[in-house]
Parts: sequence; C-alpha cells; structure tokens
Amino acid sequence: MNLLVTGAAGFIGSHFVRLVQRVRPTWNVFIVDALTYSGNESTMVDLLSAGARFFHARIEDRAAIANIIEENAVTHIVNFAAESHNDRSLQGSSFLTSNAFGVEVLAHLTKEYKLERLLQVSTDEVYGSIAEGQFYETTPIAPNTPYSASKAAGEMVCRAHWKAFQTPIVVTRGGNTYGPYQYPEKLIPFFTVRLLLGKKVPLYGDGSQIREWIHVEDHAAGILAALEHGILGEAYNVGDDNERENRETVQLLLAATGQDNALVKSIEDPRKGAHDARYSMNTAKLRSLGWEPKVPFDRGLTETVEWYKANTSWWSELLNNASYQDFIRQFYGKSLGADL
Ligand code: TYD
Repeated sequence: MNLLVTGAAGFIGSHFVRLVQRVRPTWNVFIVDALTYSGNESTMVDLLSAGARFFHARIEDRAAIANIIEENAVTHIVNFAAESHNDRSLQGSSFLTSNAFGVEVLAHLTKEYKLERLLQVSTDEVYGSIAEGQFYETTPIAPNTPYSASKAAGEMVCRAHWKAFQTPIVVTRGGNTYGPYQYPEKLIPFFTVRLLLGKKVPLYGDGSQIREWIHVEDHAAGILAALEHGILGEAYNVGDDNERENRETVQLLLAATGQDNALVKSIEDPRKGAHDARYSMNTAKLRSLGWEPKVPFDRGLTETVEWYKANTSWWSELLNNASYQDFIRQFYGKSLGADL
C-alpha cells in the first residue's frame, strides 16, 4: 500500500503513522503537512527516521497534492489535516478552508486518480450535545460551534461525493483524545503543562461538562480498522466507554502532577451557549470490525503526564512561540489576570 497521511505532524496523525510503521511495516508512508502552529517537525522525527517521506504542503493546494499522488503512486489517503480547537474557532478564526475545502480537494483527487480509499477523520462533535443516551452513526448531525460546523461540512462533502460519484470514502468520528505529543491548548495537555509549571488552570464554569476520553493509540487503531475493513460510504464512531466530568479529569491531573486544588481557577465559561454539555458514542459498529479500545483512562492519563514530564523540551519550545502566547493572552488574559 502507498499511503498518504495528511496532518501527520500533528497529534493523532503522528500516532497513526507510528502505529502503521509498527504493525504494517511493508506499507510505504508519505506525509503531507502544512506545519501551521499545531503541526510541528519535532512531532514526527521518529516517523521520518523510520522511513516516512515528508512533503510540506496544504491539502487545499490541489496541484501540490496531485503531484505527490502521481509521483508516489499513492493508493490510499487518511486525512488528519484540520484546524481543531473550539476556542480558536470561537475567537473568530475560520476553519472552513482546511476542514471543508481541503476535504473537497482530497475527495476530487481520490476520484480523479481512482484511489482505493480516502479515510476522512472527523469528530463526535458533529453530533452536537446529548443529555442522555448515546450518539449512533445514524443520529442526525447538529454541530454547535464553528469548529464542529466546519468538520460537519467536510463530512457533507464526503457524503455527497459518495452519493454522486461513488468516490470510495469512509468517515471516522473520534471522541476527545489524549496522549503524548498533543499540542498544549486542549484541556489535558494545556492543564498538564501549566500544572507542571506550577501555574493556575482555568476550569470553565463548574466543570460539570462530560467528555468521553479515548487514548490516542486506541483512536489510531480504530482508524486503521476503518481504513482496512470499513464499508465504503459509511461512518464509524471511535470512542471509549469513558465519560468523565471535566472536574473529575482535573482531579486526576492534579494527582498525576502532584498539585492540589489551589491551582484550579473556576472562570466564567468563555464558550457560553456553544459549550456542549455531554458527548457519548455507541461504538458497536466499529467493534464489529474487530477493534476495541485497550488503554484504561487512569493508566493512560498517568502515563501521558509522565511523558510530558520527560519531554519538557518538546512542549517548552511550543510554549515559547509568539503565536501561542498571543492566543493564550487574548483568550485567557481577562479571566486569569495575574495568574496568566
Ligand atoms: P477541549 O480539550 O478543548 O476539547 P473539546 O472542546 O473538543 O471537548 O475541552 C474539553 C473540555 O474541557 C470542554 O468541556 C471545555 C473544557 N476546558 C476547560 O474547562 N478549560 C480549558 O482551558 C479548556 C481548553 C477546556
């Protein structure tokens, strides 16, 4: 297989390539990444030494991606390339270019070059929020933030391509993911690095929102199962049965970093009406392909914090970046004040 993985300088994409190199060593892996703020060369050093070839390009650049497909006889694409942080989307950044238009380019190229399969990595957030019960793949999508709307738009492009041209596409909808190499803006890595530095962490509202957390290695394995065995035109939920209120996750992080509640600052919820109260997915469809999540949350979270402790150079370089500091200042400046 000649596999093109887009967005592999980012968190989940890099773990997917790591997994493929371990369990499918005969596959040729090509990486495309735009290296915007959350995609970094430091995240894929081991992938390149293990033989993956890297191309610096945006997925929206049709000519560049067409060239890479042609020159390397690409047969499959897995698309991780995306803007993914809700708070940045709420601050006004536009995500449609990568998350919808970029997907359309990949779908067109999949059709044009008669590739065997495009796997579009999406999110459970396209469903919106659910007070009780679970999201099934048949649940109507109803995104609540500009970020999740952009991912839903990408999915609609995939659906229409399948309906109109039978372009061979499979979609996965992943839950909240955690693990090593996650850019320090999402809840778990953001709080981990701040707690390790002895800084206060901003908990939105009363922290009662529920997220269903899945370890990144389990998420990557779910995507591989869908790539190899998923039915074309279908979507697959990739989640663990692991629902936690944010305040509970924060307690686990405090324990793992050796800090206490004095460092937790409850702030007025910056997401307001766009803050989804709960995500919960039914994963029977993906499990029927032979996949199951394996990493228990307590162990996975402790090991993740240990990884951040052992790899301070990876994240301190990112924290020193001016654009990171600008975002943190703009988004948390008022609420954290002197604790910033
Ligand atoms: P996040 O990791 O941004 O993922 P998502 O928005 O995709 O679920 O947020 C997870 C939860 O943690 C969400 O309910 C918002 C909350 N949160 C905080 O309380 N404080 C923070 O600083 C961040 C980034 C998130």
